[in-house]
Amino acid sequence: MVRFFRGINLLGQAIVQPDVPLAELAETAGVVIPTNCTSGTCGTCMITLLSGEDPLPDELPPGLDEEMVEEQARLGCIGWPSGDVDIDVRPPL
Ligand code: FES
Repeated sequence: MVRFFRGINLLGQAIVQPDVPLAELAETAGVVIPTNCTSGTCGTCMITLLSGEDPLPDELPPGLDEEMVEEQARLGCIGWPSGDVDIDVRPPL
């Protein structure tokens, strides 16, 4: 299950599906994660991983850097969670 939060408010949840990125799972839950390039380049869809695993590719996509990743930033358009995750739909501050 993916749970989408904004702060402490639970906005919605969706069942994890292989090959369906977080941004699309959000849509099925009625939650908006803004997207633009949908390819990991622009950073528009940046969210915060609160718990669980959302593995990153070995080479970081242009929309992320090491510092952001340390703050738990992930990209909704290319995020394929590997199990239950909690997400804040905003980028880390
Ligand atoms: S929409 Fe551009 S990085 Fe996700």
